[in-house]
Amino acid sequence: MVVLTRSLLPLTSLLVSSVTASPIGESFVKKIARQDGSFYAITGVNTGTVEPRLEIRELKQQPEAWNLFLLALQRFKAMDQSDKISFFQIAGIHGEPLIPWDGVQATGDASVGYCPHGSNLFGTWHKPYLAVFEQVLNLKAQEIAAEFPAGPTRDAYVNAASKLRLPFWDWALPRPSNEKILTPLLSDPTAEVTYPNGTTATIVNPLAGYTFHPLVPSDFGYPWSLWTHTARNPRTNTNPSLPDNIDGVESFLVGTYNGIRNTLYQILTQYQTFNQFSNTGSEQTEIGTLEGIHNIIHGSFGSGHMGYPAVAAFDPIFWLHHCNVDRIMNIFQAIYPDTFVTAHEQFGATYMNEPGDVWDAETPLAPFHSSTSGDFWTSNSARPIPVFGSTYPELVDNPSNDTIKERINALYAPAVTSLKKRQAGAEHKPRAYLAVIEAPFALDGTFSVDVFIGDITTDGANWPTDPNFVGAQTMLAKPGLTSNAVVKGSVVLTEALQKKYDAGSLKSLDVDAVVEYLKTQLHWRVEKVRLLPLLCSPMPVLTGICNRIGKSLLASRCPI
Ligand SMILES: *[C@@H]1O[C@H](CO)[C@@H](O)[C@H](O)[C@H]1NC(C)=O
Ligand SMILES: *[C@@H]1O[C@H](CO)[C@@H](O)[C@H](O)[C@H]1NC(C)=O
Repeated sequence: MVVLTRSLLPLTSLLVSSVTASPIGESFVKKIARQDGSFYAITGVNTGTVEPRLEIRELKQQPEAWNLFLLALQRFKAMDQSDKISFFQIAGIHGEPLIPWDGVQATGDASVGYCPHGSNLFGTWHKPYLAVFEQVLNLKAQEIAAEFPAGPTRDAYVNAASKLRLPFWDWALPRPSNEKILTPLLSDPTAEVTYPNGTTATIVNPLAGYTFHPLVPSDFGYPWSLWTHTARNPRTNTNPSLPDNIDGVESFLVGTYNGIRNTLYQILTQYQTFNQFSNTGSEQTEIGTLEGIHNIIHGSFGSGHMGYPAVAAFDPIFWLHHCNVDRIMNIFQAIYPDTFVTAHEQFGATYMNEPGDVWDAETPLAPFHSSTSGDFWTSNSARPIPVFGSTYPELVDNPSNDTIKERINALYAPAVTSLKKRQAGAEHKPRAYLAVIEAPFALDGTFSVDVFIGDITTDGANWPTDPNFVGAQTMLAKPGLTSNAVVKGSVVLTEALQKKYDAGSLKSLDVDAVVEYLKTQLHWRVEKVRLLPLLCSPMPVLTGICNRIGKSLLASRCPI
């Protein structure tokens, strides 16, 4: 039997189970076991200490660490694409090319990658995924540090390498209005480095994209089969030169910033089960989900690689984005240690499963091995926060619940979390308002439901920049995939309503007045990933406006 693997590795223990039942029996299983030494054991950085992953702008403040990070990422990306632990092969685990990694054969739908979305394993699966990336990145950093001439400079670099972890990109960080959300560190075409021989140089910014070396068209579906490098929000999907439209990404991020912060604050400060908190597919929630926020960021990159799970991981920004997603999951775990992955049916297919399969906290996080003998990581084994030798700034000192909450408040508390009637003497409970959205899991691929309060003054391509845009629910899926399975989410309206009140268009904060106002002023649109024809579909149903006492009303329908 010829097994196509990324680097022609021996068969895996997953295959063992299918072989065990075959006539070949025991002896063949033992033979496989003897070959096992070559599974890649994912341990994270194993220099022996637990170090915080830093926000990229903070890492930039540490000259040796920053220089090492850039050089290490450059070297990692330059690795031969057939090497199992190359940037190319690791990025390819997520989706395309649709081939096994570390010998783990498909047991599900071989037309999609390993990454689970809309799944109770969404958050935990990405944990060893980040760890293997970080592990190789750190090995490169250690290699480079050792090339500096012996003496204090090398000592400083060796020390920096042992502490270097994958940085995160916090797209919800409080920001001065003159500072970009997509920090230029992630998009500048060039970066400055100092090589171990002391030469300084201007290099292609390793964070700005990935150039395939080479592009093998059969590795990817259309249009990625034509794209020789990753693209961010390209203006066309036919031009092979694919100029990035970074300004477009930035304006989408600015438009969705308040909505993301509001939902992020809500999911960190209101209890829900881990399954509800972590993903869009496994238990219905109105509070919002980590995966839902994460989808909006992917969607900001339009029809660039980041917009599609099949190819997203080839853009280096994917790793810093997911590091932030992992950080938020770990903060949630620290505050709510008693809830975790519980068994749930899978919404979608992956390389390892068909829809309807039930996964739980002991399900292998394939294809990630924890040992050279072929054991897999599971959600349970990956659960302890520092298990991969990394933690986050908010958690590094093992803070109390109250301290974590103070830190969340300092970072993410929106200006307004509830509407309070100001007239003296009136009895009025503060209220928060949410637009609850029930939308299909996929609508010919990736799409967003955009929510507005007030007239929509922009055309479709610019909806998120509309002054009356409040927030969105974005779903990511491969082009062509439509699923009527319903995903529930919400957009927080409270802060936007307060602004309408302050500006005078909402006259009163009485519940009845707010509800009447929303009946005429709340609008929604369905946005297909930009560049493709915009679509306003009656399919998603905006179920209503829901305040904490459960009042609801039907929202305006999307006019065609
Ligand atoms: C220093 O190293 C860089 C990277 O390997 C190389 O391109 C450059 O030519 C070297 N400079 C000198 C003076 O050797
Ligand atoms: C932290 O606070 C949350 C919310 O009040 C509570 O549910 C949780 O049990 C607390 N966690 C710990 C470790 O005390």
